[in-house]
Amino acid sequence: MTAAEEEKFWASQRPESRVKALLVSDYFPQYCRIVDRGKGEGFAYIDLWAGRGKYGDGNLSTPLLLADIIAKDVYLKEKITFAFNDLNNIEILKKNFKDRYGDQTFAKKPRWGNYDVEKSEVIKKYFNKIHNTDKVNNPTLLFFDPFGYAGIDTLGLANFLKPWGK
Ligand SMILES: C[S@@+](CC[C@H](N)C(=O)[O-])C[C@H]1O[C@@H](n2cnc3c(N)ncnc32)[C@H](O)[C@@H]1O
Repeated sequence: MTAAEEEKFWASQRPESRVKALLVSDYFPQYCRIVDRGKGEGFAYIDLWAGRGKYGDGNLSTPLLLADIIAKDVYLKEKITFAFNDLNNIEILKKNFKDRYGDQTFAKKPRWGNYDVEKSEVIKKYFNKIHNTDKVNNPTLLFFDPFGYAGIDTLGLANFLKPWGK
């Protein structure tokens, strides 16, 4: 996608993007409540293609739509770690997030990255580290939402998913 096409994408929210954002932001808090075993463990939400959080028309995209829901939940807002990565838009998302929630809303500080997911050794290692530990990490939603799937490390994704369900 060219820079001009990306600007067009972020100018106004398309109906299908709205549906996708609503599905994820509705699903994740419920998933956390269901898998919570009362052990006080944390949850992680990882979006490697996180985008800006907000469209030019003012509509919220997934990171802020979800964070709005978590911010109103007195239990989950203490437990969630957000990890946001985006090659082109992370500074915009960081600003939108900080303007909306400040530094005190969530107990755990969000993680921010601007890695190129298709090329980054850090991302590759991250998937494989989880795989190699061979234990279930905190319940995690990994949102895979690139503009297209060419160049995605599907073996890394398979490795990430491998320990789940054990
Ligand atoms: C479909 S949008 C993400 C939307 C977001 N997940 C949401 O629901 O609001 C895809 C994002 O991926 C980013 N991106 C494109 N290529 C990338 C790459 N190689 N690595 C990381 N991010 C990339 C773009 O800048 C864009 O913000």
